[in-house]
Amino acid sequence: MKRLEALYEGKAKILYATDDPDRLVQYFKDDASAFNGIKKGTIVDKGVINNQFSTRIFRFLEENGVATHFVDHLSDREMLVKNLKIIPVEVVLRNVAAGSLTKRLGIKEGQPLDPPILEFYYKDDELGDPMINESHVAAFGWATAQQVETLKALGRKVNHLLIDFFKSRKILLVDFKLEFGVDKDGQVLLGDEISPDGCRLWHWDTHEKMDKDRFRFGLGSVEEKYQEVYHMVCGDP
Ligand code: TMP
Repeated sequence: MKRLEALYEGKAKILYATDDPDRLVQYFKDDASAFNGIKKGTIVDKGVINNQFSTRIFRFLEENGVATHFVDHLSDREMLVKNLKIIPVEVVLRNVAAGSLTKRLGIKEGQPLDPPILEFYYKDDELGDPMINESHVAAFGWATAQQVETLKALGRKVNHLLIDFFKSRKILLVDFKLEFGVDKDGQVLLGDEISPDGCRLWHWDTHEKMDKDRFRFGLGSVEEKYQEVYHMVCGDP
């Protein structure tokens, strides 16, 4: 398998073509951005951590019946993935109030959400990923009605699995974002990455933030907390 030209460069990753049209290399950068690109910076070795972290989570989800784009962990910063047609709808699951939910609805951070909240956002950087609902997805043809049902079912299943996965490692899964795509056979697969960049992860006992909120809000010890949460998830039990 040979890595060829870059097809797409995002804020945190680069996707490269390979000599197999069904396979891409997903390269993890150290670049970090927040508030729709207004705040930019670097988190040293974030790319290495997010690649390992995502690999661990994708393997766990595959073992539990969730189909993902993950194929192989190639190197520190490279993951081999299936080539998907990305569905431009981000699925956010929330178990505890934080972030935009607290602002939008005036809810106190830390309030448990039972049942968990599932939201859709339109994947468009220029628009700042606005919140949408199923009617928008249908009217603009971003996904079929059947795909929407799959996104909801997979979102809830992944949440259910990851709550316990993280709890057993003393981490509270506050919220997270998923992206999906369609493979060459028309199957909806979980794509992108699952890492402290796109999840809120709090220490189970202290509720200390161990995710990108440390960078977003200048809380300090960003690299240290990425390392710590990485070891809690990927280290020896
Ligand atoms: P929010 O509170 O800012 O709406 O984010 C909810 C969770 O989803 C949080 O863990 C961050 C993640 N997220 C992203 O990583 N990218 C996005 O574009 C969105 C909308 C959310």
